[in-house]
Amino acid sequence: MTTEKKLYIKTYGCQMNVYDSERISDALAPEGYSVTTDENQADLVLLNTCHIREKAAEKIYSELGRMKQLKLKKPELKFGVAGCVAQAEGQEIINRQPMVDLVVGSQAYHRLPEMMKNVDDGGKPVEIDFPTEDKFDHIKRSKARRKLPSAFLTVQEGCDKFCAFCVVPYTRGAEVSRPAQKIIDEAKHLVDLGVVEINLLGQNVNAYHGQGADGEWTLARLIRELAKIDDLKRIRFTTSHPNDMDDDLIAAHGDTEKLMPYLHLPVQAGSNKILKAMNRRHTAEGYLKLIDRIRAARQDITLSGDFIVGFPGETEKDFQDTLDLCEQVRYGQAYSFKYSTRPGTPAAELDQVEEAEKADRLRRLQTMLTGHQMDFQLSMVGKVLPVLLEKPARDPGQLVGKSEYLHAVHMDAKPELVGKIVQAKVTRTERNSLGAKIVNIS
Ligand code: 5AD
Ligand code: SF4
Repeated sequence: MTTEKKLYIKTYGCQMNVYDSERISDALAPEGYSVTTDENQADLVLLNTCHIREKAAEKIYSELGRMKQLKLKKPELKFGVAGCVAQAEGQEIINRQPMVDLVVGSQAYHRLPEMMKNVDDGGKPVEIDFPTEDKFDHIKRSKARRKLPSAFLTVQEGCDKFCAFCVVPYTRGAEVSRPAQKIIDEAKHLVDLGVVEINLLGQNVNAYHGQGADGEWTLARLIRELAKIDDLKRIRFTTSHPNDMDDDLIAAHGDTEKLMPYLHLPVQAGSNKILKAMNRRHTAEGYLKLIDRIRAARQDITLSGDFIVGFPGETEKDFQDTLDLCEQVRYGQAYSFKYSTRPGTPAAELDQVEEAEKADRLRRLQTMLTGHQMDFQLSMVGKVLPVLLEKPARDPGQLVGKSEYLHAVHMDAKPELVGKIVQAKVTRTERNSLGAKIVNIS
């Protein structure tokens, strides 16, 4: 008999970490751990960390410092650090903060039950190897916690691209794809639990090349197979690199109805000089041509992107090239960041752009990007859109769901409509969401 214990996980960063946190709680469920959202109730606190942007490790040390008071109140409380900061810092975390009982890198979550036994015996295990086995093989999805009709499913991890600013190839390791059949089985299992939308995750998801029934499969092939699962209604994938958008994946956007018309395709910058310095291995013109081909396959597709301003060597003219590219693409949504140095990455060694200049460029870029997003949201008003209702909204009597273009859409709806795709007429747009009225429940 295992005793009932409470696990509190704090998740930082990307969707991959959200997925990993779910799987961490799955891995610890057989050990008697159930998830709590109250850190004061916890027997084990895990920080699932992100290393992508500035001062990630420092933030974790200060969070651990704050959490010391929990340990004072409850001396038997255990602490663990997971994710990319764990991967990058390893043993150093325990050296700097001896309160921490375990450090588990992003590829070792299946080792957690064993590690917890070690902790219970007074050990302080650190696991940051990149094993060759599939960490998810050993973790069973727990049925109880699947409440949302939309789920993430990791299909590949790591990245071989080595963009000059990015830590992912170091923290998540080389690109590894999961075998196709395992993904299909996991997708079917999710659908059996009531999931109707699956978002395929990978740091470089369109580089997917997992073993299939007849050799290696591309992401397009995998999507076409997943689309055959009857009760699965929507498929998405994120994040992609422009150089891995192959012809079949572009074609799938036109011919696979379940593949949603939304593509997150980061370009990072619009100047060829900066793209080269970033080691992106594509040009602005190549990217724009690619967008034309994707739009030819699916005319109404919404594009989303990531941008870095103030990369070392970026001049005002280079930055203007980024603005020009944005003007041409008109992203439906986008994420933009000031460049910040990551020790160990090539760009960290270069001459840096002044902070005030970076801040100014970011403000100007975001003004443009927000304008485009608003124009796009405004163009939805009056239209009837299929919306997958996901969960109760903040306003009583309302549910919130997602349009095919990934807008959050709020509407009056009965709770039993969660998991249903309704036809809703858009009545208004807010800053980051739409408001709508149901016109038809199919
Ligand atoms: N500085 C700023 N932004 C970064 N990103 C990745 N590394 C850095 C960095 N060093 C951004 C990129 C990437 C997104 C996930 O985070 O735009 O696409
Ligand atoms: Fe990082 Fe993406 Fe470049 Fe890979 S492709 S190195 S994850 S920015």
